[in-house]
Amino acid sequence: MSTLDIKPLVPGRAFGARISGITEEQTRDPALRGEINALFEASGLIVFEDVEPSSRMHVALSDVFGPLKDHPSKAVPRVDQENFPGVIDMKCAPYPAQRFQIEGREITQWLPWHFDHAYNNELNRAGVLRALDIPAEDGMTGFVDGIELYQALAPDVRAKIDGANILYRMNVFMKDFHFGAPEGYQVTAENPHAEAVMQEAEGEPRAVHPAVWTRASGEKVLHVSPWMAEGIEGDETPEGTALIEAVSRSIFEEAKELAYWHRWKPTDMLIWDNWRVLHAVSGHDPQYSRRMHRTTIKGDYGLGYFEGGASSDAKVLERTY
Ligand SMILES: [Fe+2]
Repeated sequence: MSTLDIKPLVPGRAFGARISGITEEQTRDPALRGEINALFEASGLIVFEDVEPSSRMHVALSDVFGPLKDHPSKAVPRVDQENFPGVIDMKCAPYPAQRFQIEGREITQWLPWHFDHAYNNELNRAGVLRALDIPAEDGMTGFVDGIELYQALAPDVRAKIDGANILYRMNVFMKDFHFGAPEGYQVTAENPHAEAVMQEAEGEPRAVHPAVWTRASGEKVLHVSPWMAEGIEGDETPEGTALIEAVSRSIFEEAKELAYWHRWKPTDMLIWDNWRVLHAVSGHDPQYSRRMHRTTIKGDYGLGYFEGGASSDAKVLERTY
């Protein structure tokens, strides 16, 4: 019998689980590691509550799920290269330059539904997040299950998208984001660092990922990232564009009901399955700061490739988005 305190994330739902009070010692227990991994595979998202808020614990907990991916790109700030090379530091000071108008409000640090590394051929297994500086309002991270999104698709859209492959390109200019965008979506100022990221990415091949894939356990997953999607492989036509728009609109609409939005506490850590779950960031009032730490769990689902069989070893592929 498990010594872990496990609950569903939302009562009555298969998506997501909650584990309270795991200790560093428990993260090294082989039986518990096996149990937590089985839970992760079944639920797609685990919120760990009442965890010691340290980089040491962050790495220990991440290690339960597999080896960490370090980021060779020096452009990505690390917490402590020496002791915690896999922990990425994401800081947003008050009043950053980036601004959005969304649903009549001015916010910063908003991100649409996406999976990480869509612009890469390989997809990391998972990310583990914790919050060090939490805005007084909002600043939430949202998660929606691709299995539930697939089931929620209208049958005619589902029939067209199942079997399609989506083309993705690194694009951090938020004014270019449009698939499924909320009504009245407006970018009033880009992140000043976006330009440099875009220059780094110039000339890189596009990545291709199936819009729907089937897990070993048999469920079909809708795995389309509206952010950075460019078109359908072999069908870069107005009809193909309209299909991505229809699927993206479905994702944004269904997520209003299906998404879990995590309101952060300093003692939380959270892991999501990047092969199954889409995530988004709610954004926050620019007056607040926000700081997150993240690790990335190595791995690949083996279904992505670069367009035309191209290869790439560009540093831009090691970005965290
Ligand atoms: Fe992300």
